[in-house]
Amino acid sequence: MSTSPARTAIVTGAARGIGAAIAKRLAEDGLAVAVLDLDEASCTPVVDDILRAGGRALAVGGDVADEHAAQAAVDRVAAELGPPTVLVNNAGITRDNLLFKMSTEDWDAVLGVSLRGSFLMSRATQKHMVAAGWGRIVNLSSTSALGNRGQANYAAAKAGLLGFTKTLSKELGKFGVTVNAIAPGYIATDMTRATAERIGKDWQQFLDDWAADIPVGRVGWPEDIAHPVSFFVSEGAGFTSGQVLYVAGGPHG
Ligand SMILES: NC(=O)c1ccc[n+]([C@@H]2O[C@H](COP(=O)([O-])OP(=O)(O)OC[C@H]3O[C@@H](n4cnc5c(N)ncnc54)[C@H](O)[C@@H]3O)[C@@H](O)[C@H]2O)c1
Repeated sequence: MSTSPARTAIVTGAARGIGAAIAKRLAEDGLAVAVLDLDEASCTPVVDDILRAGGRALAVGGDVADEHAAQAAVDRVAAELGPPTVLVNNAGITRDNLLFKMSTEDWDAVLGVSLRGSFLMSRATQKHMVAAGWGRIVNLSSTSALGNRGQANYAAAKAGLLGFTKTLSKELGKFGVTVNAIAPGYIATDMTRATAERIGKDWQQFLDDWAADIPVGRVGWPEDIAHPVSFFVSEGAGFTSGQVLYVAGGPHG
């Protein structure tokens, strides 16, 4: 899958997990990659891996939910790596609880990172895409968008991203910009390990229990998500827009 080496991508929440795998995959595809996360130093191992493999990358610190930080991050990438015409809105957090126990802070925090963060980063980046007459935005939703007990905040944020994706695809299509969403099922990362710890389950047992319910018979790994991101970002995917791809080892949606 070839992509022009001149392209620059921003991957948010890329210091670890799914975002780190996406950053490395896009670098392998030939893009220069801004590895963005809350703490710049935490991005260094991913950047070093990319540089060692012969790619181009930049560590960028910033909170995507902060308007000024989001704009500053995009400006820095444009100046130091090149105008970003690929954006992967991957940063996300969970603050699970049943509705009657869910705090307003936990509601705001989850919607703040996923929805507000994706909005701020997309708004700041789109001008570079429109100027180039080409762009790719990929938003990380979740199968939780279909409803998941204990995740009213997360499900609302991830379902909100679907409306956001479809709307941006209509607004930006005429500028050569495609906008798509990936809705992963269960992917083994620090985020899901924290869930296992919270409910007091052994990690391996947690993985085995989940795998038993997944048609392909295993849980997903970050690279399973990086692969379809690579497709949506590729030059040949210019007629694929406004779509939601469930990547969950079986049917969803
Ligand atoms: N792991 C799964 O099973 C799963 C399933 C469906 C969807 N997702 C989604 O995929 C994405 C990545 O998940 P993961 O499992 O790799 O999570 P993770 O917790 O391992 O990594 C998320 C990264 O985002 C960063 N981040 C958090 N808030 C941020 C902010 N305000 N600004 C910048 N960076 C921030 C974190 O520091 C962290 O490095 C998330 O959007 C998540 O909701 C994950």
